[in-house]
Amino acid sequence: MVVKVCVGSSCHLRGSYDVIEELKRLVKQYGVEDKVDLQASFCMGNCQNGVSVRADEALLHNANKENCEELFLTQVLPLLK
Ligand code: FES
Repeated sequence: MVVKVCVGSSCHLRGSYDVIEELKRLVKQYGVEDKVDLQASFCMGNCQNGVSVRADEALLHNANKENCEELFLTQVLPLLK
């Protein structure tokens, strides 16, 4: 699965770097390195709800360092099964 984190200017200001780092950590922690391809992406046209993350076709809103694990567990991991 491709997981893209927006690094457009608005999302960048809202902390996309932290979201990427946290997702990297979670991918490793849950041992799904071979199933998740983490990528940075340009603006997803969803700036007011950033940080935007796209997991396959699903667009996840308002990602941040604090809710990243919950998003990962509820929106990403189940899609890998
Ligand atoms: S900058 Fe991230 S959605 Fe526009």
